[in-house]
Amino acid sequence: MKVLVATEKPFSAKAVKEIRAKIEDAGHEFAIIEKYTSPEQLREAAADADALIVRSDIVDEALFAAAPKLKIVVRAGAGYDNIDLKAATAAGVIVENTPGQNSRAVAELVIGMAIMAARNKFSGTTGFEISGKRLGLQAFGQVSRHVAEIAKGFGMTVTAIDPYCPVEVMAQNGVGVAESLDDLYGGNDIVSIHIPATPETVGSIGRALIEKMPKGAVLINTARKEVINEAELTQVLEERPDLKYFADVKPACAADLEARFPDRVFFTPKKSGAQTAEANLNAGVAAANQIVAYFADGTDRFRVN
Ligand code: 3PG
Repeated sequence: MKVLVATEKPFSAKAVKEIRAKIEDAGHEFAIIEKYTSPEQLREAAADADALIVRSDIVDEALFAAAPKLKIVVRAGAGYDNIDLKAATAAGVIVENTPGQNSRAVAELVIGMAIMAARNKFSGTTGFEISGKRLGLQAFGQVSRHVAEIAKGFGMTVTAIDPYCPVEVMAQNGVGVAESLDDLYGGNDIVSIHIPATPETVGSIGRALIEKMPKGAVLINTARKEVINEAELTQVLEERPDLKYFADVKPACAADLEARFPDRVFFTPKKSGAQTAEANLNAGVAAANQIVAYFADGTDRFRVN
């Protein structure tokens, strides 16, 4: 079987070497396309592929049409909103993700951003310590659990809300339970967003929640830009000169926000949460192992469609 690694944002060389070894040791053919600049290039590379390993790369109906031999796509990462699941199912292609494999890396970035915001982007002006402050986590999945653990090491009080996570799990992790989103946003100095982009969540974080944040609060988004109502965020930042928005998922209106609120917003130039040697290796090798297992005996434990 031909396994294509298709990553516009490449894995580390070491991760690629390990992925290749896993694929070839199992008797499959390895191919790779990195830093491609158009969907056509991806379609061309995938034309005779049986399996695909991707990151945030767009896998849509046109790609399935261009890759008729495709049997499985593994998203080396957690969020799979970049893959058209309906089109995949219609094309008879299995889609999997690799949950948890890059979450420590994202969690460390959240804490880094919290400190960067607390220290006014290291401008030399007087900031604050995150120690003793309140951290609210919107959703309590793999990334949040790491964030909570690290934040508690800094002496933060951590509260979370997640309709899909039993409260016992939060308690086991030493995390308080927020009664509502209003309470989460209203009762924390720093709120970190960890929800996926779904039809229910897109545009769901706007004025009603953000304006509840206490004086001097920081909103951190390492999840997906689509969950923010950008027009309302902009309005609240205008009205509340004490609030900050730091994101690893650049908003569509980034240039406007940077021009208007240069000291209070920060956006990574490219999504960097999962961009560590460790996360590349963990997620990439997990993806390779999942493909090898699927071709060996049909194992599809991480299937999402
Ligand atoms: C994920 O969903 O796993 C993260 O957003 C990381 O995405 P990336 O692989 O594009 O860096």
